[in-house]
Amino acid sequence: MSERLPVLYNRKPCYDIVFTQSFDELWGELEALGCGDRKLCIVTDSRVDELYGDAVLTLLEGKCAGAVKYVFPNGEENKTLDTVKGVYRFLIEEGFERRDMLIALGGGVVGDLTGYTAATYLRGIDFVQIPTTLLSQADSSIGGKTGVDFDGYKNMVGAFKMPRLVYMNLAVLATLEDRQFFSGFAEVMKHGLIRDSLFYEWLIENMYEICERDLDVLQEMLKRSCGVKKLVVEKDPTEKGDRALLNLGHTIGHAIEKYKDFQLYHGECVALGCVAAAYISWKKGMLSMEEYYEIRDMFVPFNLPISIEDINPREILRLTRSDKKMEAGKIKFVLLKRIGRAVIDRSVTEEEILAAVNEIYFSEEDAHE
Ligand code: GLY
Repeated sequence: MSERLPVLYNRKPCYDIVFTQSFDELWGELEALGCGDRKLCIVTDSRVDELYGDAVLTLLEGKCAGAVKYVFPNGEENKTLDTVKGVYRFLIEEGFERRDMLIALGGGVVGDLTGYTAATYLRGIDFVQIPTTLLSQADSSIGGKTGVDFDGYKNMVGAFKMPRLVYMNLAVLATLEDRQFFSGFAEVMKHGLIRDSLFYEWLIENMYEICERDLDVLQEMLKRSCGVKKLVVEKDPTEKGDRALLNLGHTIGHAIEKYKDFQLYHGECVALGCVAAAYISWKKGMLSMEEYYEIRDMFVPFNLPISIEDINPREILRLTRSDKKMEAGKIKFVLLKRIGRAVIDRSVTEEEILAAVNEIYFSEEDAHE
């Protein structure tokens, strides 16, 4: 059975997140947004296009003022302004006007890039998110952050632009390769850790069904996970305060991601970053030692890493300084007071970060002990 979660923006209803298990209700949702006489452009990447591009296009054809599809090559390396330029050109050739709409069909790269294109084309047109990875369903499709990478810096250029609808067909999760599925799970775990200890416990109780990808359990999981994200972004849509809590694990996580030249998946780096943040929280007397080890070990059954080889911890430290999460030269670090209660902390020192990176660093010496 499909379910929906309305998301507010400036205290007014802005868009719904629809949780369902097929594309059957997609046209009805779009029609309700007045798409019957608008042109629609699906923006997707080569991988998702092979799986769902034509199926979604067929659902729109003959129902709206014109349905077209723009496909760009799969991969984070294509999340650039050059790809955005390609979409602009296509939209101009197809005669897209301000009342027409983009549909982001894909994972985080597609959603962020399409959202940014929608935010800037003709000074802003509507867009809809159809996230097809667990990472984008749990995190990036919600809350209106859009953007592209620039000169190797992740999401350096972007805009806040709210979608008109987020349509989650959970059946698409069945085609995800394991590594990508579990990478997305790291963001789900993060939501439990920052704001909802009961949800964190529920995740552990339902570990087996989640790993087996039971669709009804995944629907419940995403509804609760998106419920946490919804509350945080409704309170602080443009990250002036508490939205930064969603960056738990991301300061060190992004640094590892960049150091490894995006060879590790985002969620894998977030898991490592969460372990490091939990370690700092323990060392600062916020978490107990037991809580630290529990958090660390809970990533393991979900196939997420809790240590990493072949890094230079000092270089990781240097990279944390170039992350966007800086304010007046100080890193805004997210720490855990307890499971379900994250806080922003501006007092984390370079020594503490280095100690945390060393904690997750699995070196040659460890191997010989
Ligand atoms: N992924 C963090 C945020 O949406 O703010």
